[in-house]
Amino acid sequence: MLPNIVLIGFMGCGKSSVGRRIASLTGHRFVDTDELIVTRAGMSIPQIFAAEGEPGFRDRESAELRELVGVGGVVLATGGGIVLREENRETLRRIGPVIWLHAEPGLLFERVSRNRKRPLLHTEDPRATFDALLAARLPIYEAAADLQIDSTRLSHDEAAQAVVEEARNFCGRASQDGV
Ligand code: S3P
Repeated sequence: MLPNIVLIGFMGCGKSSVGRRIASLTGHRFVDTDELIVTRAGMSIPQIFAAEGEPGFRDRESAELRELVGVGGVVLATGGGIVLREENRETLRRIGPVIWLHAEPGLLFERVSRNRKRPLLHTEDPRATFDALLAARLPIYEAAADLQIDSTRLSHDEAAQAVVEEARNFCGRASQDGV
């Protein structure tokens, strides 16, 4: 049986689009922490940041994540900053194998520039902010992930296939090791 699949990665790496495709390939239910937060709050992410600041948003993120421990049959897409808290990194691992979806910075920036949904990039110089956040987070994604997939040259469908294959192999290895 395929375990839950947990997707992490920087803004614009395609966690939600790829996650939806994984759900249709596997029959897993697609869950997105940002969507859970928005639904519960009854506010958009920019509105939550404006009303409660980043700490308020992060508290909501940790609370939604804790609720998912013990739930099976899900593919989980997470917000790009979920790995910042140690508590969240531990919770992610309890939910399922953690897969870091990454891509070249130029592609990520092009994708995030298409809309204004990400309040962290509402700065005087969004590219500089983007670069600084990415540099700070790369080692955190790497440490938090069980597996990595570079999706730069993959379509969302190809990336979804690759994630499913890697997750299956990973679980096969883990069960052979008696984990
Ligand atoms: C954030 C990423 C966003 C969203 C929020 C904060 C981040 O999600 O959770 O704007 O800190 O990187 P996406 O990664 O889906 O853009």
